[in-house]
Amino acid sequence: MQENISVRAAVYRGDDGDRLAVETLRLAPPSHGEVRVRVRAAGVCGSDRHVIDGEWHVPLPAVMGHEAAGIVEAIGPGVRELAVGDHVIIAWHQACQRCAECAGGKPWACTRVRSNDSQLPDGTTRWSTETGDSAWPYLAVGAMSERIVVPDFAAIKCDPRVPFEIASLIGCSVGTGYGAVVNNAQVVAGESAVVIGAGGVGISIISALKLAGAFPIIAVDVNPEKLTEAAAAGASHTLLSGDDLPEQVASLTDGGADVAFEAIGRVQTMELLPALIRPGARAVFVGLPPEGQSLQLDGLQLAYDGKTIIGSNYGGLVPARDFPRIASAYLAGELELDGLISARASLDEVNEAFDAMRRGERTRTVITFDDATA
Ligand code: APR
Ligand code: ZN
Repeated sequence: MQENISVRAAVYRGDDGDRLAVETLRLAPPSHGEVRVRVRAAGVCGSDRHVIDGEWHVPLPAVMGHEAAGIVEAIGPGVRELAVGDHVIIAWHQACQRCAECAGGKPWACTRVRSNDSQLPDGTTRWSTETGDSAWPYLAVGAMSERIVVPDFAAIKCDPRVPFEIASLIGCSVGTGYGAVVNNAQVVAGESAVVIGAGGVGISIISALKLAGAFPIIAVDVNPEKLTEAAAAGASHTLLSGDDLPEQVASLTDGGADVAFEAIGRVQTMELLPALIRPGARAVFVGLPPEGQSLQLDGLQLAYDGKTIIGSNYGGLVPARDFPRIASAYLAGELELDGLISARASLDEVNEAFDAMRRGERTRTVITFDDATA
């Protein structure tokens, strides 16, 4: 019989501004169909920042983080596909696996998903505080903790040659960017592309565009350092954001790009996207704005030009199919991901990592767990 264990985790309570506290919580053993994973790397992602800056609301207290990779260390009853010692990447969108959308290969369209509300598929949590209250793992992952319990289908086996830091990013930013290109936009070789925002997600989009054979690949950011990183990831052209962006993109693409991606989550840049693409082309919204914000788009122009707006959540990923494909492309040297990691931090340095993100200083900080702390 497995017992509850004590686990250190970065917890958001919402009563101390945007600060997280590293606390010791209780984690129940994996239930039927679940596994416990010893986290080895957890990415610091823009979505966590949306929550701790009060832009999105989640059940509290929340164990933050949703971008993780680690090693299976315990399995619950009924787990067949995983064994102790397996390296795994965690998927944060935990679809029901049974509805028509899931069965039809569109798990991202599942309407029964509970992970968006920080709940495991059965509607519960394995986390509790020292005083016995429930705590809720953000996106049913809670990656910024030494150990997590997730459904077995959300722990995707990964080639152990992929470093944990890279594997963790495949679970969110890299998977989101790759999926936006491959699944949502279905970019083919020779298409022209523009990406606004060259952070963790934007750079991942650029790497995937390069893999898909897009050209030109135009990266846009307000920060020149991000543009240098975008070029290293595969952007053929880089532009500082400015009023004449539509004209600049049009001149590089003979009248407008075949596909444009917004990877910031700003309403103003989302509204700009249709002006960057040619008639018949597609605009993909990858960045996620604060709750309740609306867009103003020129409806006549959109219809007249036959432009397509595509909403992309988690890159339309099918994790069990796409994570291994991304890992293989990385191991083959076809998908440049190493440049994404600009800093490493310990769990205790989590607040500084978010501060650096707010200052726009880093592409990705990855929290790593050494043997002394885990
Ligand atoms: N114009 C161009 N670039 C901008 C602008 C702007 N007005 N404002 C910010 N940026 C750039 C930043 O300089 C940074 O490089 O956008 C990038 C945002 O990157 P990150 O902060 O690293 O965020 P990321 O983790 O990539 O997430 C982006 O995608 O999945 C969503 O929730 C996520 O909404 C978030 C978005
Ligand atoms: Zn994320």
